[in-house]
Amino acid sequence: MIKIATSILAANNKIASIKKLNKTNTDYIHIDVMDNEFVPNYSLPVNDVNKLDEYSTKPFDIHLMVNNPKEFINNLCSINTKCITIHIELNQNIHDLINLIKTYNYEVGLAIKPNTDINLLDEYINEIDKIILMSVEPGYGGQKFINSSVDRCKQIKEKYPFVILEIDGGINDTTIDKIKDIVDIAVVGTYITNKDNYQEAINNLKN
Ligand code: DX5
Ligand code: ZN
Repeated sequence: MIKIATSILAANNKIASIKKLNKTNTDYIHIDVMDNEFVPNYSLPVNDVNKLDEYSTKPFDIHLMVNNPKEFINNLCSINTKCITIHIELNQNIHDLINLIKTYNYEVGLAIKPNTDINLLDEYINEIDKIILMSVEPGYGGQKFINSSVDRCKQIKEKYPFVILEIDGGINDTTIDKIKDIVDIAVVGTYITNKDNYQEAINNLKN
C-alpha cells in the first residue's frame, strides 16, 4: 500500500498541524526547507525544524530546496529525522553531500525537478536510498499536478526497480489514482492540511 508523507508547508500553525498528524496514520511528516534562492520561497530554517522535532511522534522526511544544504545538515538536531533529500540540480559536489548525510546516519534522497533529465540519476543511484520525483515546480503547495510525471515515474521504476520512489506535488484523491501502483510514497500537502479532518483525507488517499 502507498505510504503518505504529509507536507506541513502550507499549514499556518505548524506545531498544531504536527500535533494533529500525530493522531493520524500518516507514515511521515514531510518538512520542506526553502532558502528563497534555490526556489522563490522561504520556509523553515534549521532552528525551526529543531524546535518542531520535539512535538512529533512521526518520522520526518526532510526535503531541502536550498543552495547550501551543508549548513542545514550540520546544524540539524532531530531524533525524528529518517531521511534527508537534496536536489540533483545543485551546483555542488553531490557525492560529498550524500556522504555528509550518511555520516549522520540518515537515509539519503535525491530530488529531481520536472524538466531535469532522469538519466542524470545514473551517477548517484548506487549511493542513495530514495528518489523524489517532483510533479510540480518546487516552491509552493497547492499547485496542479504535471501529467507527464506519470511516465517519468514509470521510467524510473523500470530503470531502478529497487530504489524507493516518492512523488511530490499536486497529489489529491484524484491524481493519486494515476501513480498509486507505481510509487512507494506520495507527499501530500494542501489536500490534507486544508481540511479539518486530516484522518478522513488520508483515508481517501490510502483506500
Ligand atoms: C513543493 C513542496 C511540496 C508541497 C506539496 O515545492 O516540495 O512538498 O508542500 O504540496 P501540495 O501537495 O499541496 O502540492
Ligand atoms: Zn517537498
